[in-house]
Parts: sequence; structure tokens; C-alpha cells
Amino acid sequence: MQPALIDADLSAFNTLHLAARAARLRLVDDARALPALTAEADASGEPLLILGGGSNIVFGADFPGTVLHMRTRGIDVLTVDGEHITVAVAAGEAWHDWVTHTLAQGWYGLENLALIPGTVGAAPVQNIGAYGLELADRLDHVEAWDRSDRRWLRLDRDACQLAYRDSVFKRDLAGRAIITRVAFKLTLRPDVRADYADLQRELAATGIAQATPHDVYRAVCAVRRRKLPDPAQLGNAGSFFRNPVLAGDAASRLLAEHPEVPHYPAPDGAVKFAAAWFIDRCGWKGVRRGDAGVHERQALVLVNHGHATAGELLALAADIQSSVRDRFGVWLEPEPLIVR
Ligand code: EPU
Repeated sequence: MQPALIDADLSAFNTLHLAARAARLRLVDDARALPALTAEADASGEPLLILGGGSNIVFGADFPGTVLHMRTRGIDVLTVDGEHITVAVAAGEAWHDWVTHTLAQGWYGLENLALIPGTVGAAPVQNIGAYGLELADRLDHVEAWDRSDRRWLRLDRDACQLAYRDSVFKRDLAGRAIITRVAFKLTLRPDVRADYADLQRELAATGIAQATPHDVYRAVCAVRRRKLPDPAQLGNAGSFFRNPVLAGDAASRLLAEHPEVPHYPAPDGAVKFAAAWFIDRCGWKGVRRGDAGVHERQALVLVNHGHATAGELLALAADIQSSVRDRFGVWLEPEPLIVR
């Protein structure tokens, strides 16, 4: 096991490029080290933070304990059963590289999730989703180390309690389960989902009527590259707010007052509203305050133009929340994990 890095700079470990520090940083290349590493953290009584690609986290302060950065690698075919294949992937694999690999192998089902930043191990935590598909649609099971009960877990899909940008890993197992492998159920025959409006438009514009998984992959990459900033060039954590899900009277009132707001059906008759639209209508798109800003092509994405501090970004986020609440009566919840 490599020694811990002391007073480590985390700016290269978070895609907002915030200049936070960790008291200790450990690079985990072998999941079998987790029992010893977590025992060490528990003995010291200091907090522990599990970090994947750092693409969904805001370091609002320095971290006073140990950060475990998962770098484990490996892709293992578990079963092939007729048209289905189950493949387990180590937590530290880069998400987009994994998606690209599936297509090269002729394993279909993840192409709508191309170019999402971050690692495979982080994907179940917020049930990543984009362009009409979410991880829940393709997940078989998750393997994890439970640092409270000190045992290895295997959670099938239902036990993960996946919902919109939510899972058991943000709830009962938060701070407890360290995801080590994620197993996917994919198909050997194309299973294309191309009904998301932006995706349909992109495919139509390139003259594609019967899209293959490769077409979907290329179209998703094209739309994302056009609308979402590349964290390597412009610091960001993807969507900074969740799309609000409202039910009953609250939803009907909003729709009656603003029939033009983009919205989608959510489970149990609720309605999911486009947060980007509210933020855009409040005039925030492209606004820049010092180095903290709102992306010029996607109002839901806050960006770091260079040396923004977490305080500046969070102040901007708070002003966005207040203005959307004052104008539309809707409270926007942050989407990334905020470490304070
Ligand atoms: N819109 C605006 N102004 C904007 C951007 C969008 O009015 O500046 C409107 C669009 O016209 C559209 C609606 O808002 O009708 C929704 O926009 P879009 O399809 O771009 O998706 P989103 O709701 O903004 C969500 C996810 C993204 C994911 C896209 C595509 C959340 C919080 N965000 O964004 O995920 O890539 O759908 O499926 O659910 C992420 O989670 O980090 C992320 C980038």
C-alpha cells in the first residue's frame, strides 16, 4: 500500500478545480486494502471521504480527515445468457472509457450515457442519467465494503433504491458503503433508446432514421460537447441543481402559471421540471462574477473560469436559488455533494 499523501492539494482531484486540501489522501489501487484503510480511519476518529473522479463534488472547505481516491481497474464478464451479458467493472474505471469499451465489444445499452465525467464506482451513488436513460435501467448489482458492519456487501438492483439522482448510497449507506465494483446487465443485440428530444433532433439533423447504438453514442457525444463544458477546459461539476420534482397542487399551480416550462412525467404521478429553464428565465445564463459563473450554453451548470473559490461559487448558487424561489416559488436543491 502506498503511504498517505499529507496535506494534499485536491485541485486536480475535483472537476471544479477548487483549491481545497485534504489532511491525508490515499490512492486506492486494490479494493482488498479497504478493510485495513477504513479500520485505520475509524481508529483515528477522523472523517473519511471516498472520491472517484471528483466530478460531482464541491469542496467548500479543506477536508480534515482522509480522502480515499479509488483507482481500481478491471472489467470481468460474469455471465453470458442468450442475448444478455453481465459484466462487473472496478470502481476506479473511468465511466466514459467503460461506455466506449462496451460498444467496441458489441455490448449494448449504455450508449446514451456516453461522455458523463467521473468513475464507474460513483455512477450508482446518484444514479447517473442522461438522454432518456439512467443507470437503474442497466444495473445488475453493486459490490461494496461496509465500513460500519465490516463486511463485503452485494446489493442487487432493488437494494440500491435507485431513483432520480438518488440511491441508498446517499441515504442509509451514506458514509458507510464504499463501492468497489458495479455489475451491468447489457445486451448483445442493439436496444436503442432515442426518444429524448435533443437526441432525436441530433439524429434527424444528421439524416439518421434507424439509429444504431453507435449512432446514439456519436449523437450523445455531439450534443454534450456542444452544450456542456469539458471539465478539462472549464471547471464544472455538471448540473449544479437537481431538476425539481413536484406533485399534486404544487405541480398543477406551476403548470397553470407557466405552461411553457419544460416538464416530464416522474414516478407516482409527480412532475419533473427543467431547473435550467427557471434559471435561464431569471437571466442567469452566461453571468460571470469574478471567476465564478453560469455556463453560457446551459444555465444548470456553474463554472470556474480560473480561480473561483468555493465561497464565490456557493454565493452565486445561493443567489440563483433565491431568485428562482422569488420568481417561481420553486426551491432548487444542489445536485453535487457539498463538503463543508
Ligand atoms: N433549458 C433552458 N435553458 C438552458 C438549458 C436548458 O431553458 O440554459 C431547457 C431546455 O430547453 C430543455 C430543458 O431546459 O427543454 C432541459 O434541458 P436539457 O435537456 O439540456 O437537460 P437538463 O434538465 O438541463 C438533465 C440532466 C443532465 C443531462 C441532461 C440530458 C439533471 C440535473 N441534469 O439536464 O445531467 O445530461 O438532462 O439528459 O437531471 C448532470 O446531472 O450533471 C447532468 C449534466
